[in-house]
Formats: sequence, C-alpha cells, structure tokens
Amino acid sequence: MEFNQIKIEAEKEISPIIGQKDLENWRVKYLGRKSELSLFFNSFKNLPFLLRKKQGNKANQTRQFLLSLYQQKKTDLEKNQPDFEFFDLTRPGEKIKKGHLHPLTLVLREITHSFEKIGFEIVEGPEIETEYYNFDALRISENHPARDMWDTFWLKPKTNPPAGEKKFPLLLQTHTSPMQIRYMEKHQPPFRIIVPGKCFRFEATDNHHEFQFHQVEGLMVGENINLANFKFIIREVIEDIFKHQVELRFRPSYFPFVTPGLEVDIKIKSRSTRARLAQRSWAAKANNEWLEIMGAGMVHPQLFKNVGYEANRWQGFAFGLGVERIAMIKYGIDDIRLFFGSDIRFLEQF
Ligand code: FA5
Repeated sequence: MEFNQIKIEAEKEISPIIGQKDLENWRVKYLGRKSELSLFFNSFKNLPFLLRKKQGNKANQTRQFLLSLYQQKKTDLEKNQPDFEFFDLTRPGEKIKKGHLHPLTLVLREITHSFEKIGFEIVEGPEIETEYYNFDALRISENHPARDMWDTFWLKPKTNPPAGEKKFPLLLQTHTSPMQIRYMEKHQPPFRIIVPGKCFRFEATDNHHEFQFHQVEGLMVGENINLANFKFIIREVIEDIFKHQVELRFRPSYFPFVTPGLEVDIKIKSRSTRARLAQRSWAAKANNEWLEIMGAGMVHPQLFKNVGYEANRWQGFAFGLGVERIAMIKYGIDDIRLFFGSDIRFLEQF
C-alpha cells in the first residue's frame, strides 16, 4: 500500500478547495467507508503478523495526517465564510427607530396648508427685530400702555457700532405683526399673506404660557376688504384644521394697530373629542370654556400711511394666530412647556 502516495495526492487535492461541498467530497474520497485507507483497514486482519505491524503503523499515521488536513481546512473555511451565508432571512428584523416631525411642525404645516388652499402666500420675517417694526410702526409708542402687553427680551446694543450703523436697540420679536409693515413697505396691494414665525416674551411660564412660542400672522389688503371676509376665511381655515369639531366666537378687543380689534375663541363641539380630553386639566377647559386662539382686526389707516399707501383706497384685515394653542387643543396636550422640553416620551407619541 502506497501510503506516502496517498498523503501527497490528498494534500495536493485539498489545498485548492474553497467550499464545504468540495471538502465533503474530499473527506469521502480519503476517509470515507470506501476510501483506499478504510478498505485497507478492513483487510488488515488477514495480513501476516509482521506485515500487519509494519503497515498498521503507517496506515494509522496516514489516517492521522488526513484527519488533521481535514480539520485544518474545515476551520479555515469556517473562518473565511462570509457573514451572509449564516444570515437567517426568516428571523424577524430589529425595529429601526425612525425620526419624525415635531408636533408643532405638524400643526404649523396643517395651518399653512389650509391658508394656501385659499390663495394665501407664505412669507417669512426675521426673529431679531428693531423697536421700530415691533412697536413704533404698529402705533405702540414708547410710553403707550399697550407696550406692557408685550414684555420684551432686549438685545445688548453694540458698544462700538461700525461707522454709519445706527445704534438703535434690537429685540427678539414679541409677535409676528412687524412683518405686516416690512411686507407692505415692499409690496403693493392687493395681496394676501401669512407669516409663520417664532415669538419671544419675557414672561413667567405656566401650563399655557411659554416665553417662546409660534404665531401665524395673516394680512389681506384690497379695495373692498371687510370684517365679513375675515370671519369667513377664519371659519373656513379653523373648520378645515379641526374637521368641523369646534365652534367659533368673535369678541371685541383692543390692539393699537387695528380698528376695530377683536379676538377669536374656539370651543370643542364634538362629544367624543370632549370625552377624550375630559381628564386633562388645561385642555379640559376646552370642554366647556371658550379658548382664545388669536388677536385680529381691520388694519389701522395709520399703518397704511406709515408705508405710503393711500389710506382711503385700501382696507385690510390682520390676525395673529397662536400655534401652540391650536396644537394643544388638537392633540389634547395640557402643558405648553412639553413642546420645548425635549422629552422623548412625549415626542414619540406623534
Ligand atoms: C398679538 O400678539 C397680536 N400681534 C395679534 C394681532 C395680530 C392682533 C394682527 C391684531 C392684528 P396676542 O398677544 O393676544 O396678540 O397673541 C396672539 C396669540 O398668540 C394668542 O391668542 C395666543 O394664542 C398666542 N400667545 C400669546 N402669548 C403667548 C404665550 N406666552 N405662550 C403661548 N402662546 C401665546
């Protein structure tokens, strides 16, 4: 029996093998029941004693050699196996956490979309404002008591402003109304716009007042605009947002930049929505109480004069809608501070 020859051939054949199947064929050929070596062992007992001793040793060595070749190759193949060969496609996958939009973004999108449907254009204004646009141009002069309505975050003035730059005080806008003036200065009527924006007020927070919040300003100017147009448009939009589940109320009020001025309140009329919100403290107020969602009115003629319009020719209405209030009622949220708290348990619910 040529044991050396077997070793040489087996080693030659195993080295190029790269797959489990070929390795198994190799094993059957050299170590299987019908292999040359196994056949030798089967006939072993029939050999003369001396030959048995001599050949038996050699046969055992050869078997050990072949087994170690096989083990080594098997380990090598397993190590180099690409991962996908072990990937079980039927196993349920790990859930991927998807990001999603903030509830205020969702509501803001709904509001702007509702206005877009009836022809309003969206424009944006700055968050850092001048005293002129935030107050004076809106007829809220320095000593006017109405300034108290808008507690203000003032920015530190530059100590050495560049030559030519005026040293007027800057502030964080307290409402989105300054954009009324900025827009009218650059555009001629007729137009209808909405201005979503972030507002800041230096005031104590509670469950329905934040020092930062969002408003959507609206301004529509034309030759025959009146309060009936305002009421119709606001009713359309609010009913669109709340899917006809709220009642609306218009109430006289005062803002220096409109005349007459009014405020709009809403109240939930659907029984099921009331029941859903019944346990919540602040939102529960919406069950039986009217909630203020916006200030509004007919643009004061002085504003038209301030921007160089013919005050006798144009009329318009303006409004400022509180976005957080809408979101609170819509989703039954009882504390406005949750919107800015970054609590993932709250945010994950939207
Ligand atoms: C104003 O800011 C006026 N600029 C609105 C206006 C525009 C009147 C155009 C006339 C014409 P007021 O301060 O009431 O008004 O705010 C309007 C809305 O913003 C409120 O109804 C409320 O929904 C929201 N809002 C006001 N202050 C806060 C606050 N601290 N936290 C959350 N929402 C607020």
